[in-house]
Amino acid sequence: MKYYIVTGTSSGIGEAIANKLIQEKHKVFCISRRINNRLTQLASNLHTGLWYYQLNLADSQEIVHKMREIFTFIDPEIATGIALINNAGVVSPVAPSGKLDTYFLENHIKVNLTAPMILANEFIRRASPLKIEKTIVNISSGAAQNPYPGWSAYCSSKAGLDMLTRTIAVEQQRETWPVRIFSVAPGVVDTPMQKTLRQTSEDDFPPLERFIQLHKSGKLSQPDDVAEKIISLTFGSSPASGDIIDLRTF
Ligand SMILES: NC(=O)c1ccc[n+]([C@@H]2O[C@H](COP(=O)([O-])OP(=O)(O)OC[C@H]3O[C@@H](n4cnc5c(N)ncnc54)[C@H](OP(=O)(O)O)[C@@H]3O)[C@@H](O)[C@H]2O)c1
Repeated sequence: MKYYIVTGTSSGIGEAIANKLIQEKHKVFCISRRINNRLTQLASNLHTGLWYYQLNLADSQEIVHKMREIFTFIDPEIATGIALINNAGVVSPVAPSGKLDTYFLENHIKVNLTAPMILANEFIRRASPLKIEKTIVNISSGAAQNPYPGWSAYCSSKAGLDMLTRTIAVEQQRETWPVRIFSVAPGVVDTPMQKTLRQTSEDDFPPLERFIQLHKSGKLSQPDDVAEKIISLTFGSSPASGDIIDLRTF
């Protein structure tokens, strides 16, 4: 039996991942501020194990409490693998530095970087007695490697997430039952985040037209395809721990 903790399951890529995991009858812990009734209904129809946590990932202490609770539901007798998929993220605030709102800037780093770090820390600590496959998948972005004007927060938080991946990978080399960790840039995916981005102004985000054109010409990846690929990589040996991969070319 595989257990999955997935953040950001109320929409987009996270919803597609959880949806597929429920259909495959894995045990799934979902985290987002809004509850996703499509997922809870599906799990109820299929009689599968789904735990839904309505949690604001900007609240560090609550993350620790919820992770403690989640691990009480994991049965070591039946668990063959456990994964944390750090998918939740925000793109806002989108504007050049000098025009950014401090509250949104701070919230951005809490959700995109601090929360995955706390979740990873709790996951590694609490999963350490388990002699099973353990994986952390960080959903990153090409923005981690390339600076985009207007995206100082997003590029920085995703670059930080990639360095978290690389650092935990070297730390885990000494472990007998290590946590395998890798980052995935999913490409440009047709989700509410892309819709929000298309509504920003070119003044705040000069590369806007490229994203509008990708949408218009039907070139966005679909969340279900992205989810399927991410799930297929979660357990196994490829990509290697510490790898930063681009899903479009991997
Ligand atoms: N779409 C793309 O083109 C693209 C490209 C590269 C990377 N990504 C990355 O892929 C991941 C998923 O993005 P998406 O496109 O699927 O976006 P999305 O549809 O906007 O979904 C974002 C998810 O994050 C959750 N979230 C945001 N703030 C939260 C908070 N404070 N606490 C808890 N959950 C929070 C949202 O849930 P609630 O609002 O209910 O809390 C939602 O479920 C993100 O990390 C994003 O950076 C996306």
